[in-house]
Amino acid sequence: MAHQLRTAFTKNHKAFALAATSTATLALTLPTSAKCDDEILHAPTYNWDHLGLVASYDCASLRRGFQVYRQVCATCHSIQRIHYRELVGVTHTTEELVAMASEVDVVDGPNDEGEMFERPAKLSDPLPSPYANEEQGRLANGGALPPDLSLMVKARHSGQDYLFSLLTGYCEAPAGKEMMPGLYYNPYFPGGAIAMPPPLNDDGVEYEDGTPATISQQAKDVVQFLNWCAEPEADSRKRDALTYMTVIGMTALATGYYKRFRWSTLKTRSITYVK
Ligand code: HEC
Repeated sequence: MAHQLRTAFTKNHKAFALAATSTATLALTLPTSAKCDDEILHAPTYNWDHLGLVASYDCASLRRGFQVYRQVCATCHSIQRIHYRELVGVTHTTEELVAMASEVDVVDGPNDEGEMFERPAKLSDPLPSPYANEEQGRLANGGALPPDLSLMVKARHSGQDYLFSLLTGYCEAPAGKEMMPGLYYNPYFPGGAIAMPPPLNDDGVEYEDGTPATISQQAKDVVQFLNWCAEPEADSRKRDALTYMTVIGMTALATGYYKRFRWSTLKTRSITYVK
């Protein structure tokens, strides 16, 4: 097969070269031309503090981000994959989270009589969802379902940059762009019309650490928090990687030393037996 291909190529190499060039030209031109009528603005790349090789999440920012989520986004969005206990030591202390959880009632059961009952939430419960089911969520939002935000940073292209741009990108629709009722113009959302009303306002929340709650500050904090939700293990993964790399590096040095200086003398010696 390979031989036949090679023969065919030598015979028709001009035709092959032409085909390859035109495919490459097509590949280069296609995405560009598709982007023109995409009606989508690509999010710029932001310099997030937590993205460095040895950088960790900023816990103060995570705490503020969780506050923004609870006070703003939680009206419409769930974060089902995160349980209160996972936030211990990340955003709040155990006592604070026990108190926060106990304010929410969850359905549990069945009890000994086969009845479902309500009880205050515990640390082992997931964060509460605003709607009982998908249909209720759609009904409350003009037919659009607010998606679960647990893995949202991973679910969208250029995750945190897109989310930050989406939250800060609401503006007037350009002239000539018809907006249907219940849709808002946002150039970062595919198609430009999103069913989510602009969620953030300046001073929409009051931060307990005194940070000015501008729209961009709230967006940065909540996106960092959502990033943590999607990758809670990021910090420990980086720490473990650093430990492994150090140990592997030291092992490599020791191996090199033994190979070069200890073992080589044994390997290169020559033993001569004299009669
Ligand atoms: C009033 C209800 C409401 C609030 C409050 C709200 N959202 Fe939404 N959100 C929606 C709806 C509805 C959609 C679905 C939009 C669509 O499909 O057009 C949505 C979609 C999204 C999406 C997905 C966009 C995509 O690319 O599909 C993200 C991310 C998001 N919201 C983040 C947030 C964050 C973060 C907050 C808090 C700062 C928030 N939302 C507050 C209703 C809300």
